[in-house]
Amino acid sequence: MKWKPVSWEGDSLKVLDQTLLPGEEKYLTLKSVEEVWEAIISLRVRGAPLLGVVGAFGVYIGIRNSAAKSREEFLREVNKVIDYIGSSRPTAVNLFWAMQRIKEKVSKHTTLSVQELKRIILSEAIAILKEDDEICRGIGISGAEIIKDGDSILTHCNAGGLATSGYGTALAVLYRAREEGKSFRVYADETRPLLQGARLTCWELVKAGIETYLICDDMAGEVMREAKVNKVIVGADRIASNGDTANKIGSYSLAVLAHYHNIPFYIAAPLSTVDWELSNGEGIPIELRREDEVTHCRGVEIAPCGVKVYNPAFDVVPNKLITGIITEKGIVYPPYEKNLPLLRAK
Ligand code: MRU
Repeated sequence: MKWKPVSWEGDSLKVLDQTLLPGEEKYLTLKSVEEVWEAIISLRVRGAPLLGVVGAFGVYIGIRNSAAKSREEFLREVNKVIDYIGSSRPTAVNLFWAMQRIKEKVSKHTTLSVQELKRIILSEAIAILKEDDEICRGIGISGAEIIKDGDSILTHCNAGGLATSGYGTALAVLYRAREEGKSFRVYADETRPLLQGARLTCWELVKAGIETYLICDDMAGEVMREAKVNKVIVGADRIASNGDTANKIGSYSLAVLAHYHNIPFYIAAPLSTVDWELSNGEGIPIELRREDEVTHCRGVEIAPCGVKVYNPAFDVVPNKLITGIITEKGIVYPPYEKNLPLLRAK
């Protein structure tokens, strides 16, 4: 892959501005915590694992110029930065997971100076970035076993390299299957309102030379009825410990359609996307986004002024509609309440 969604270069966080794709490949350097927050809320960077990586570097960027005189003062500043970044997008648990990991790391070091703690935070963020690539490759290896020659896979939103440090989750399965020499095709939902499927998934799959058909979201049912797809694989923003999974709005409809048509429906995600504190999907916070994302499409007004809008960014797929959850440690099958924790301990 010639493109990189995120990199740490010298002392700067470089990200690919995903709002401009597929038209323009422009990299931004995020220099302040406010710029990190803006990049997240505007979806310049997006996708659960990538939000974790960017959030981790965001903490470092937010405290690197701290003039705190004591460890306690410094920890208060770290907490403030974490709360601020966390106020950007509520659903993807990876954002909170990564920042919590940094907080725990700092709390463990009780004798280090503020300068040393800053270095610890940066090295933890770099470790999270590096691990993400290894984890995504693990998801690819686990999931490739379900892909057979001649398969046709439907995916939704973008759970690709762009949503991670570079290799993806749902798309990692496809990248790995292709590396293993399997031949298959992909149907990509356009994913209104912000078109991550059309703009991002198609961008990276076409670049990778994978045969890809773009469909409007409302075509998925017909594509299934015509037996044009035989598997659905999507990503996840937060998985409850019973397997209920929040993912991009429209995932629930797809899962219901897949169930009706007897098509296996898989989630692909790192174990860091599991929120072990939630016993089911009811507690997953669903982000509500701006009305103009629905009334407008790429800046063009498509609905009359004055119409009311409901714009939830995610929905929850109940565990009973999920055939398997593909993780870096293998594929988990129902009952998830029992089998997900087993995998965690592995
Ligand atoms: O609003 P987005 O674009 O951040 O939503 C992204 C998704 O829903 C992805 O499917 C999910 O984060 C998994 S990414 C590997």
